[in-house]
Amino acid sequence: VSLQPFNTFGIAARAHRLVRVRSEDDVRALVRHPDWRARETFILGGGSNIVLTGDVRALVLKVELRGRRLLHEDARGWLVEAAAGENWHAFVQWTLEQGWPGLENLALIPGTVGAAPVQNIGAYGVELQDRFHSLDAIDLDTGEPLTLRHEHCAFGYRDSVFKHERAGARGMGLKGRALITRVRFWLPRRWRPQLDYQDLQRKVAETGVAEPTPQQVAQWVCEIRRAKLPDPAVLGNAGSFFKNPTVTPEQCADIIGRDPKLVHYSLPDGRIKLAAGWLIDACGWKGKTVGRAGVYEKQALVLVNRGGREQPCTGGEVMTLARLIQTSVYERFGIRLEPEPVVV
Ligand code: EPU
Repeated sequence: VSLQPFNTFGIAARAHRLVRVRSEDDVRALVRHPDWRARETFILGGGSNIVLTGDVRALVLKVELRGRRLLHEDARGWLVEAAAGENWHAFVQWTLEQGWPGLENLALIPGTVGAAPVQNIGAYGVELQDRFHSLDAIDLDTGEPLTLRHEHCAFGYRDSVFKHERAGARGMGLKGRALITRVRFWLPRRWRPQLDYQDLQRKVAETGVAEPTPQQVAQWVCEIRRAKLPDPAVLGNAGSFFKNPTVTPEQCADIIGRDPKLVHYSLPDGRIKLAAGWLIDACGWKGKTVGRAGVYEKQALVLVNRGGREQPCTGGEVMTLARLIQTSVYERFGIRLEPEPVVV
């Protein structure tokens, strides 16, 4: 099976076997199958945060569970649930249409609801974990259902328990083990727009609207994203390719001594976050192409497939470009950039 339609980079890797999961019974039937034991699996959502570096030997489980509903409503807010295979942006739009605010800053993020907790998606000052209530999953070892609340998910910046191997540094990872089936969000009635990000401040200044509605914020976020980020349907990509690194104030001061224009933000814990896009841009990478992989013209943090659907770049070409970028950023700034998508 070609995986090209199932990853937003448009990389033409293949899967030896792919199963479309449309119900929880499908999953239980798989786990009960005699061939199941010791089988390696790869859980695929919208394919918007992966780099396929070769054909996938593991059994690909393509999550296509559908459905969304209001579970509970009271004087404090709304508890909303969506199945893992729902499109994330369509879900955000639906909550806003229903009059349930809270997800507007996360509008237009590609991918599915089930993949959203895996990397704790975030944009414009809001992370999934700020609205997350709980999720249901199926343990692929036993076929048993699992319910995980916030404290079980070990959310961090673009990170969660679902990104870590079982026997990894944290010792309790659920990577490849928990198939997320449903995610619930708590959306409080008491709502204030989150407009701290510079790009949103600019919208406030341009429009003169100081107290936007949730729908207005979503509209602004969509406009900002469309201006800066390539539409994967037009130009293959997986969003930001590296995480924004954090450094100590001393390291930051040291770099500013040499590069006064360094873009940096103070974090609550005293560390400093740097804009990886700026670091890459400063090394002259913006708009460059190596093989069929390139650095987007308008946002140096995004790597793109220059070969389109016909002659797509390979995952190897993307990783070669990524390593060249990592080396030049390390040589110039002493900072090691860490890839953000899952490299398969
Ligand atoms: N910049 C440059 N040159 C560039 C790119 C960026 O100088 O080529 C500088 C600019 O000063 C800009 C600053 O870097 O103001 C930050 O850039 P931007 O606002 O585009 O955000 P980002 O830090 O590059 C992060 C997330 C995005 C998210 C935006 C908005 C990560 C890895 N990326 O990008 O998430 O949409 O903030 O919140 O944290 C993603 O994860 O795939 C993603 C797109």
